Amino acid sequence: MKPDPKNTAAITAIGGFVPEYRLTNKELETLVDTNDEWIVTRTGIKERRVLKGSEKATSDIAIEAINEVLRKKNLDPKEIECIICCTMTPDMQLTVTAAYIAWKIGADNAWGYDFTAACCGFLYGLTTAASYIESGRYKKVIVIGADNMTAFVDYKDRNTCVLFGDGGAAVLVEPNEEGSGVLDSSFGSNGYGRQLMHQKAGGSLKPATHATVDAREHFAFMDGKAVFKYAVTCMTESVLTVMKRNNLTTADIAWVVPHQANLRIIEAVAKEINIPLDKVMLNIERLGNTIAGTIPLCLWEWEPKLKKGDNIILVSFGGGFTWGATWLKWAYDPE
Ligand code: ACO
Repeated sequence: MKPDPKNTAAITAIGGFVPEYRLTNKELETLVDTNDEWIVTRTGIKERRVLKGSEKATSDIAIEAINEVLRKKNLDPKEIECIICCTMTPDMQLTVTAAYIAWKIGADNAWGYDFTAACCGFLYGLTTAASYIESGRYKKVIVIGADNMTAFVDYKDRNTCVLFGDGGAAVLVEPNEEGSGVLDSSFGSNGYGRQLMHQKAGGSLKPATHATVDAREHFAFMDGKAVFKYAVTCMTESVLTVMKRNNLTTADIAWVVPHQANLRIIEAVAKEINIPLDKVMLNIERLGNTIAGTIPLCLWEWEPKLKKGDNIILVSFGGGFTWGATWLKWAYDPE
């Protein structure tokens, strides 16, 4: 159901953070049997960021990002009502990263929870936050997309270790009466995908043992070639669904913000939906796949170029499988 145009939910501020350490393709050449040429031509990635330091985790990325939002809006954290932390890499099992973040930033009046939908986390979390606002239940919701995926990457597995990086961004979502914000979404999921992308051990299905650790089963596994085809099809179909049911033509679209797992996937989707690449936000070359962080990090980086009224299509595909597209009308001009 689409929102009443007089009662929508819009992003009103955005903050982001990427760790300093740059893991280049050259450095990866020293870890696994790979080379810069293969990585660049097959994925489009040149470097990715890695969160370094003991005791550092996803919440550290998220807190940096939220603090930028608080500074930009001169917002007292006590005004925040709800924090949704979209991540596949929570700080710890049996606890809630969003609750820890709220406590650390002094958001004493907020409740929070973690939202796991792999690379679609931010899309799903943003639409959930928008529903809270549209219903009138809340006026200030923070949605974070952040992942510390390098903590789950096997730097002995060339199939996966070249792909992922760390980072994240946070948005403030507030009511809007001008018809801007989150206007429509088309989402899907299919559990068939679990066999093609997962972490074999460490969940309730296969708890950690010495044997699972010895077999390196606590790292990301992916059958990349199979996933690739689903990604192109599902991303294309969800964008076309959202455009068709809202009578949006390609000329109406200012920006497409795709999940960044592989530049070839993005190029294939852009071709299918007939959008030129200069309208597509790309950070994969510098950041790799930052999972739930990818889409908000793009918005954060492009924020100075975004204008009030810009039609933006967010589109993602990830583990699960999960996929979807969201039509966002940007709510404010650059400072
Ligand atoms: N360096 C050098 N060679 C490599 C590397 C590497 N880093 N990785 C794989 N290869 C080799 C393979 O071993 C294979 O060699 P072989 O032919 O001798 O067996 C060859 O390169 C081709 O391998 P493919 O798997 O066919 O490579 P492909 O072109 O498919 O690229 C990739 C692999 C990059 C993983 C791609 O399939 C992909 O991007 N898949 C989709 C990823 C995705 O969308 N994920 C969803 C989001 S992630 C999430 O939700 C957590």
